[in-house]
Amino acid sequence: MTYYAVTQFLLYYFFQHWFVLGVDIGLRSTEPNGVGLENNASEYNSSTELTHVEKSSLIDQTKISANQQFIYSTSVSPYEALVLSDPCYQDGTCEFTQTIMEEQYCNCDKQCHQFKDCCQDIKYNEELNSVYTPYYQCYKSSNNIYKGLFAVAECPSMEDNTTILHLCQSDDFLRVGPCVVSDDIIFKNKYCAFCHNITLYKTFDLTLKLSGVVTSIIHENMSNSDRMNHIFHMSKGYQLIPPKGTVVRPCMLQLAGNNDTLCQKFINPVYLFEKRMAYFYRNYFCGPGSNRHLLKCTGGLYDRLGRDTIYPITILFSFTEKETKKEDCTKMTYQINGSNQCDLEIYTNLISYPEPFYLVFSVSLTRLQIIAVASAYCWTLTKVIDTENVSFKKILLPNGEKNKAAKINLRIVFTKPSFLHEIKQNEHYINNLMWNMFWSDENNTIKVSKEQNVPLTLQNESLSLA
Ligand SMILES: *[C@@H]1O[C@H](CO)[C@@H](O)[C@H](O)[C@H]1NC(C)=O
Ligand SMILES: *[C@@H]1O[C@H](CO)[C@@H](O)[C@H](O)[C@H]1NC(C)=O
Ligand SMILES: *[C@@H]1O[C@H](CO)[C@@H](O)[C@H](O)[C@H]1NC(C)=O
Ligand SMILES: *[C@@H]1O[C@H](CO)[C@@H](O)[C@H](O)[C@H]1NC(C)=O
Ligand SMILES: *[C@@H]1O[C@H](CO)[C@@H](O)[C@H](O)[C@H]1NC(C)=O
Ligand SMILES: *[C@@H]1O[C@H](CO)[C@@H](O)[C@H](O)[C@H]1NC(C)=O
Ligand SMILES: *[C@@H]1O[C@H](CO)[C@@H](O)[C@H](O)[C@H]1NC(C)=O
Ligand SMILES: *[C@@H]1O[C@H](CO)[C@@H](O)[C@H](O)[C@H]1NC(C)=O
Ligand SMILES: *[C@@H]1O[C@H](CO)[C@@H](O)[C@H](O)[C@H]1NC(C)=O
Ligand SMILES: *[C@@H]1O[C@H](CO)[C@@H](O)[C@H](O)[C@H]1NC(C)=O
Repeated sequence: MTYYAVTQFLLYYFFQHWFVLGVDIGLRSTEPNGVGLENNASEYNSSTELTHVEKSSLIDQTKISANQQFIYSTSVSPYEALVLSDPCYQDGTCEFTQTIMEEQYCNCDKQCHQFKDCCQDIKYNEELNSVYTPYYQCYKSSNNIYKGLFAVAECPSMEDNTTILHLCQSDDFLRVGPCVVSDDIIFKNKYCAFCHNITLYKTFDLTLKLSGVVTSIIHENMSNSDRMNHIFHMSKGYQLIPPKGTVVRPCMLQLAGNNDTLCQKFINPVYLFEKRMAYFYRNYFCGPGSNRHLLKCTGGLYDRLGRDTIYPITILFSFTEKETKKEDCTKMTYQINGSNQCDLEIYTNLISYPEPFYLVFSVSLTRLQIIAVASAYCWTLTKVIDTENVSFKKILLPNGEKNKAAKINLRIVFTKPSFLHEIKQNEHYINNLMWNMFWSDENNTIKVSKEQNVPLTLQNESLSLA
């Protein structure tokens, strides 16, 4: 055990110095004795025998460096040394993250240089950075506290309007708006775009997820933004939805780092448990030196971090400043395709409990017969408004087995994505329906005739219960 700890320390010591010197003397162009930064992924398939053999040779080499002098080895490249000294190396390789994991915390494509999210076996090349690289941060785009997306989240240093700077820094997207996208670059909000001279952009939509919310607590008389705040505070979760065609780059949130070269080079998250809290770091070399032996690899655990719970009710808000004509947005049965072009929010699966109603029969019916009639009634309601789900909440029968009347409470779920005014209109409509149903015992048929303005299709409908 002791021997192992000492070895780890020596290895780390060796790296720190190698990289400091490497940078100082410009090692990249003049590679002494053929030892360079040959960080080629395919050369380092982590076969266990190979690792084992090289580990022992490395230990010998690094011991020499204990005299504080920079000594490099001709048989072990710094990259190999890096591989061997990081106990989580396996979890940071392209092969592991791309084949074993469902979601990735690091990437192996060309853009990884630009986002600084390369996997461990990619040779990170600063020359492939983009102008936005220094400003990218992992942005929290949902209630998931571990997974976000990359967005330009800082202003260039020459920006001197402190109002803009503060608004760009703000995490309160209800106030400053959500992220925006221009030319495939995602900015944390419109102020961050503005300080990079971007004024034309598309805005992300906001989906709020709720459970068990009923129509009666959402009022039409509120302004859109008041309604959004009101609903946001009742919501169980949220998610920002990119405009159609926008490619987002997922990333892991809460990763602490430092300015150390090895820490900056790649992402392979590790964590430390302290006082029942998990603290995450970009990689092994970002962790606190004194506690490095306590760091644990994140690896496949990432797939299970912050898994979303599914909530049935969603409300889609748009931050887009009226680009669609108002009349297009007030039409009923508006079809949405991914993104919300109206500044009206869209509700899915909102619940309504209409006024109770009474079924009154000309003859006494059994409980089962009443349920059959009530079911037929529910079924006809789903025909009135095509995409709702109607079920009983309660059926109240005054007498025992035979009854001439029943009180029925319904539960209606508006399954089709709809505007609030559509839902309120349908609710009003359902509350004012009055139907005559003719139930015939011989052929198991119920005849429904309307008493109010039901659609033509439903007039005089016959339903077979068989
Ligand atoms: C990595 O190695 C392979 C085969 O050894 C070679 O074809 C490829 O060009 C190398 N890639 C880099 C980035 O050096
Ligand atoms: C590394 O592993 C991959 C897949 O396991 C294999 O295709 C490739 O040939 C290996 N490369 C080396 C250098 O062993
Ligand atoms: C900073 O930007 C805000 C918002 O665009 C603007 O109203 C304000 O005048 C600017 N302040 C200065 C000092 O330029
Ligand atoms: C934005 O435009 C101004 C004026 O054209 C220029 O001085 C400034 O450098 C630009 N800023 C960025 C981040 O491109
Ligand atoms: C909106 O209407 C509801 C009921 O219809 C009422 O209780 C509420 O006070 C109204 N709110 C405003 C801001 O007018
Ligand atoms: C990293 O360097 C930047 C500027 O070079 C500095 O502002 C920042 O505080 C440093 N971060 C750490 C964790 O030392
Ligand atoms: C939505 O998409 C469907 C199928 O792609 C298409 O038929 C429909 O016209 C689209 N609706 C709108 C409003 O764009
Ligand atoms: C209606 O709701 C019930 C229970 O909530 C569910 O089992 C059923 O699948 C729903 N039907 C439709 C068409 O959504
Ligand atoms: C069912 O029986 C009733 C009453 O006998 C009759 O009016 C109705 O036409 C019949 N319906 C069908 C579909 O046979
Ligand atoms: C429904 O029945 C009434 C009376 O029998 C009749 O006047 C009306 O035309 C019927 N409606 C349809 C759509 O068949």
